[in-house]
Amino acid sequence: MDYANIIFAVEERVATLTINRPDRLNALNPQTMEEIGDCIGAIHGNREIRCVIITGSGDKAFIAGADITAMVTMSGFEEKAFAATGLDVLRRFEQLPIPVIAAVNGYALGGGTELALACDLIVASDNARFGLPEIKLGIIPGFGGTQRLPRRIGLLRAREMIYTGDMIDAQTAFDYGLVNHVYPAAELMDECRVLAAKLARQAPLAMQQAKTAINAGIEIDLDNALRFETESVGLVFTTEDKKEGMTAFLEKREPRFRGV
Ligand code: CAA
Repeated sequence: MDYANIIFAVEERVATLTINRPDRLNALNPQTMEEIGDCIGAIHGNREIRCVIITGSGDKAFIAGADITAMVTMSGFEEKAFAATGLDVLRRFEQLPIPVIAAVNGYALGGGTELALACDLIVASDNARFGLPEIKLGIIPGFGGTQRLPRRIGLLRAREMIYTGDMIDAQTAFDYGLVNHVYPAAELMDECRVLAAKLARQAPLAMQQAKTAINAGIEIDLDNALRFETESVGLVFTTEDKKEGMTAFLEKREPRFRGV
């Protein structure tokens, strides 16, 4: 598929989506958001894809936020529509039935941190910087940052980041529990591909149920969440892949999962 602002490639069951506006530090304008949305649709419709990596072009930025050039002339109503598109696109990432890895290769600011927060795992280069600097522009985060960041790193740290607009470095993000791993910049993509390949080898229906159980359960009370998990376990026990996984263990061989 050809897009103006993103590069989309699929290799060995792993899709890589690269925001490709390096001269704008991969800032998200309305067209880029639409293209990402279109890509998510393509990923959703392709059962061969088992994991997604999202990253930014160049060695400086993952995504430096929503495009300020595009936003400066937006009215409140236009911004609400843009924010609604952003929220929808991020929600659809969250709800993909496969895991999504954010490979944060530099600045992840505003919408960049917000997009990373909607991914399953965040892996950062040692030169990555995270932040929600919207307050410095006289606005507030509009792609879910005020909600997902406190849920991820706790109220006190999130308040400080949102109220000051200051960036944190990769090591601090790791200490806050915001990122899974930090690697030297030159190793980031190789490490993400290794991780993605590992996830892509797992039983797809079990992966889907695990993701759904985590995402749904974290929003509700524990008793209902545990009931949800029990239902999910029941479902995965009906799959061919359950038979294959357990049989392969007993036969001391690698399982061949087929997603059925
Ligand atoms: N929107 C539009 N253009 C941007 C941009 C953005 N978010 N971020 C960077 N750029 C542009 C710069 O204007 C610059 O363009 P020119 O070459 O034409 O001058 C180019 O990208 C390179 O950037 P800098 O020269 O500024 O690079 P730097 O190394 O000096 O600084 C930076 C890097 C600290 C990331 C700085 O660019 C910056 O602070 N960017 C803005 C970050 C920001 O405020 N993001 C939040 C946006 S609001 C938002 O995201 C709302 C939401 O919740 C969805």
